[in-house]
Amino acid sequence: MKRIVVVGTQWGDEGKGKITDYLAQKADVVCRFQGGDNAGHTIVLDGDKHSLHLLPSGALNDNIINVMANGMVINPETLVHEIETFKPKHLLISDRAHVIFPFHRAFDIHAEALKESALIGTTQRGIGPAYADKASRIGMRMATFVQRDAFLKQLDVMLRIKNDEASRYGLDPFDKETIIETYGRYAEQIKTYVTDTSSRLNHYIHTGKNIVFEGAQGSLLCLDHGTYPYVTSSSPTAASVPLNTGIAPWLIDGAIGVTKAYTTRVGQGPLPSEIDDVIAHQIREKGHEYGTTTGRPRRIGWLDTVVIRHAKQTGGLTGLAVTLLDVLTGIDPLYIVDKYILDGVETESIPASIEDFNRVNVHLLKMKGWTEKISDIKSYDDLPIHAKSYLQTIERLTGLPIMIYSVGPDRHQTIERIPIFLPRSDLR
Ligand code: IMP
Repeated sequence: MKRIVVVGTQWGDEGKGKITDYLAQKADVVCRFQGGDNAGHTIVLDGDKHSLHLLPSGALNDNIINVMANGMVINPETLVHEIETFKPKHLLISDRAHVIFPFHRAFDIHAEALKESALIGTTQRGIGPAYADKASRIGMRMATFVQRDAFLKQLDVMLRIKNDEASRYGLDPFDKETIIETYGRYAEQIKTYVTDTSSRLNHYIHTGKNIVFEGAQGSLLCLDHGTYPYVTSSSPTAASVPLNTGIAPWLIDGAIGVTKAYTTRVGQGPLPSEIDDVIAHQIREKGHEYGTTTGRPRRIGWLDTVVIRHAKQTGGLTGLAVTLLDVLTGIDPLYIVDKYILDGVETESIPASIEDFNRVNVHLLKMKGWTEKISDIKSYDDLPIHAKSYLQTIERLTGLPIMIYSVGPDRHQTIERIPIFLPRSDLR
């Protein structure tokens, strides 16, 4: 394969950053295609931990061209901070990506406060309001943001609408001069990176480059196919890559769905396989299951293969990457969800109605655990028999080959079982 999508199959935080960073070693280009700084990708290299919220996970590699595509919503403050921190050598930002402003964050926080029991538990980064403005055709593209006159004109329109909304919500108005001062400065700092990334990506494809399209969040947080309304405001699936990057659908060779060896979720919304006992505590501590963006403790559940099959069907997965297998060492027995039961009837799919999804019970397969340390193993053959059988059961229940798995946080603890990339191009 030369053009691969890496997406989460669950509710985010599956370790996509680590898998992308691993694949980036053989890639020429890493492209993020949706979401914004609600994402938190952790990469551990030689024991050092790096957290990225906006930049693609190739940012730590000087040989990689990092692309932020048109499907993203970009907070310039976060971007400037990450550019100054990580100093990516090659960065391209789509002129069609949308800009997140302070009023987007303020409205995100305000709407959540009004929802009371219907709270979504957003990351409060203004993601929903920024995408809503894009759909309402009052957002601002990067191309406008970096042209001073166009920026001032569009900001004027936006603030007329936003300050009208603010007064109705009883919020203080947003000060135009302050935004012009700070965001005008960000625009100057970002300007040189802004370009037509669709043309650049098509050029890279036609010159044979290896490309990783990196999803943020997870398939179950997809605005269309996820557990609505407990979702994000974009589509973190492989199916959304063409639209969100400006390339043809048939130019994608395959999609790797990343899944933890168990399940986690942050924020509200159903988690059918949830456990809240001493085992959940053990997994949370060993797997450091606290949000990269918000620090919230993640909810823990057994691995749910109905969820993975849903991600496969709606997003078109061709293989799996299983992360954090080592976290399950020492837990015996283990359980895997193979189907749901809704009102006494077995079902193999995720109901569209959140009320129905709230009522599903899980059917669990009991598996033997293992006690052997696996964090140093280098090949599949070295895995304990029960760890192998755990992975084989995932393959059987999802109908997907496990192409990569990881047994620890470091890049060197990721094992490629089935070769993914064709040799890297030397065409750069
Ligand atoms: P938003 O994307 O900030 O609007 O949040 C909507 C939902 O998606 C909330 O439940 C968040 O916790 C969740 N979410 C957003 N980004 C991530 C992520 O990167 N990992 C896990 N959950 C996320």
